[in-house]
This record gives sequence, C-alpha cells and structure tokens, in this order.
Amino acid sequence: MTTTTLDNPTSIYDRIGGFDTVDRLVETFYRNMDELPEARGIRAIHADDLGPTRAILKAYLAEWLGGPKEYSAKKGHPRLRMRHGHLRIGPAERDAWMLCMNGALDVTIEDVGVREGLRENLAKLADWMRNDPDNAHDKRH
Ligand code: HEM
Repeated sequence: MTTTTLDNPTSIYDRIGGFDTVDRLVETFYRNMDELPEARGIRAIHADDLGPTRAILKAYLAEWLGGPKEYSAKKGHPRLRMRHGHLRIGPAERDAWMLCMNGALDVTIEDVGVREGLRENLAKLADWMRNDPDNAHDKRH
C-alpha cells in the first residue's frame, strides 16, 4: 500500500490543527454572536458573560471532532438537545446560530473539504436542536 490516509485515519480534530483551531473557531463564533445584528435575539438569551460558555463549547466541539473527551468527563453524556430544552429554538434561532458559525468556519478552517463537511454536519446538529418548529418568525411570509 502506498497511501497511509485510509489505513491510518486521523481525526478531524487533528486534521484541522487540534485545540488551537477549535479555540479560534469558538472565539470567532461568539464574537460574531456579539457583533452581528442578525444574532441580537440569540445573544440576548445567553449569559452576559460568555466566558464560561466559550470554554464549554470548546470542550464540546473538541470532543465532537474526535479530540479529547473532556466535555463528557466533566459533564457526562452530552444530551445536547435536552440541555437546550429550556430555550425556545425555532428556525430563526437556528439560522442565527448557523450564521455566526458559518462566518467562524470561513475564517478558521483552511481545508475546503473539511470546512464544508463541518458546515453540513453542524447545520444538521443545529436543526436537531430546534424544539419550536412553528414559531412566530416562521409565520412571517
Ligand atoms: C449545532 C448546534 C449547537 C451546538 C453544538 C450547541 C452547543 C452548546 C453547548 C455545548 C452548550 C453548553 C451546554 C452545557 O452547559 O453543557 C450550549 C449552551 C447554550 N446554547 Fe447551544 N448549541 C447549539 C445550538 C444552539 C442554538 C441554535 C441556540 C439558539 C438559541 C443555542 C443557544 C444556547 C444557549 C442560550 C446556551 C446557554 C449558554 C449560556 O447561558 O451562556 N444553542 N450550546
């Protein structure tokens, strides 16, 4: 065999550059949430101090990408949908979240194939987090 990639699969976490990249991704994501007018609504339901939230999302995404399992070690099974159950997440909130994430992916993940794969999978995850399919925003024509 001349190729090593198939025999020796590397996690996405390693391929994107490990924790440094996850760190930049999440920092940019929450900066976008702070700055984009479209994200004002979802920013308002987050804690004023995003410091702890940033750290948790970094740990979660690192694990989700195949890196260290620090999130589960600290918090148990992710049960992410349940952890969002007290929030009202409809299409508008999902889209605002993805807008912040898309901007962050664009400037932090260099490999286009990996970036687009992540975008697709995060969009699915964000859609799965939706618990209010029929909210008022959706009813606007
Ligand atoms: C791919 C989709 C998403 C992922 C991966 C994600 C991830 C996370 C994680 C890991 C936490 C921390 C949970 C914990 O305490 O263990 C969290 C909290 C939170 N998420 Fe999400 N989330 C997603 C979608 C959304 C969406 C669409 C909204 C829209 C409103 C949202 C709003 C929040 C809020 C308000 C918190 C609490 C943070 C705070 O109060 O500081 N999330 N999310």
